[in-house]
Amino acid sequence: MRLIPNLKGKANALVCGASRGIGLALCKALLARDDVGRLWAISRSAKSDGELAILAQEQGERLVLMDCDARDERALAAMAAELGRTCDHLHLVVSTLGILHQEGAKAEKSLAQLDLASLQASFATNAYAPILLLKHLLPLLRKAPATFAALSARVGSIGDNHLGGWYSYRASKAALNQLLHTASIELRRLNPSATVLALHPGTTDTALSRPFQGNVQAGKLFEPAFAAQRILEQVERLGPFDSGGFWAWDGRPIEW
Ligand SMILES: NC(=O)c1ccc[n+]([C@@H]2O[C@H](COP(=O)([O-])OP(=O)(O)OC[C@H]3O[C@@H](n4cnc5c(N)ncnc54)[C@H](OP(=O)(O)O)[C@@H]3O)[C@@H](O)[C@H]2O)c1
Repeated sequence: MRLIPNLKGKANALVCGASRGIGLALCKALLARDDVGRLWAISRSAKSDGELAILAQEQGERLVLMDCDARDERALAAMAAELGRTCDHLHLVVSTLGILHQEGAKAEKSLAQLDLASLQASFATNAYAPILLLKHLLPLLRKAPATFAALSARVGSIGDNHLGGWYSYRASKAALNQLLHTASIELRRLNPSATVLALHPGTTDTALSRPFQGNVQAGKLFEPAFAAQRILEQVERLGPFDSGGFWAWDGRPIEW
C-alpha cells in the first residue's frame, strides 16, 4: 500500500522529534520505503545526533537534518522558511514531540505533586509545539494530498481516564487533541484533501516510558520499530474523511 493514497510520485515527509524513540524509528521506516522521496528529520540537535548523522551519511540528499527547538516559535518559523526554499509540498508530517517526566515535566501521582512548572513544561512540548509546527508548515500543506499526524496518547482521553494521575501529561495531550481537531476543520476548507490525525502509538520502549514500564503487562510493550510500522499503517489507511479523529495504533478510534 502507498504511504499517501492517490499520490502518484514519491512523498516528501517530515518527522519532528526525530532523534530517538518512535521518531527515529519512523525515520528509518520511511527511508526504507520506495514511495518516500525525501525526508526532513528535526530535533533540537539533529545534525550532531549519532544515529541521525549515520543515516544522513547513508542516504545523502534524501535525508535532510535540521536543528530546531519546537517550543520556540521563532525557531519554528525559521525552520519552515528554510524548508520552503527547497520544498513546496509536504505530503506527510509526523510530530512525535512529547515529554512525560523530563525537562520540568512530572508524572504526578497526586494533586500535591502538581505544580505550575510541570504544567507549563508539558503543555509547551506536548500541545503548543505540535500545533505551532502545523501553523508554520501550513504553506507546505496546502496542496493535495497532505497528512499531518501528531502522536498523542490514550491517557489524553477524558472518557478513558479511570485511573487518574499524570495530570500534566494527560491534560496537555487532551489539549493537543482539541487543537488538532480544531485545525482539521480549518484545513478541510483550505485543502479538502488534507488529513489531520491524533495517533496513539501504544506503550513503547523509549526514554519517555522507561521509568513506568514496570506496570506494563508482559507482551504489551512495543519496540519502537513496531510502533513506527503501525503508525505508518494508520497514515496509509486514514484519509480526509477521517480527519480530526483520534486513533490507536491498531486502527481503533479512541473516545475523547
Ligand atoms: N513511548 C510511549 O510509550 C508512548 C506512549 C504513548 C504516546 N507516546 C507519545 O509518542 C511520542 C514519541 O514518544 P517517544 O517515547 O518516542 O519519546 P522520546 O524517546 O523521549 O523522543 C522524543 C523526541 O522528541 C524530540 N523532542 C523533544 N522535545 C523537543 C523539542 N522541544 N524540539 C524538538 N524536538 C524535541 C526529542 O529529541 P531531542 O531531545 O534530541 O530534541 C526526541 O527525538 C510522544 O509524543 C509521546 O507522548 C509515547
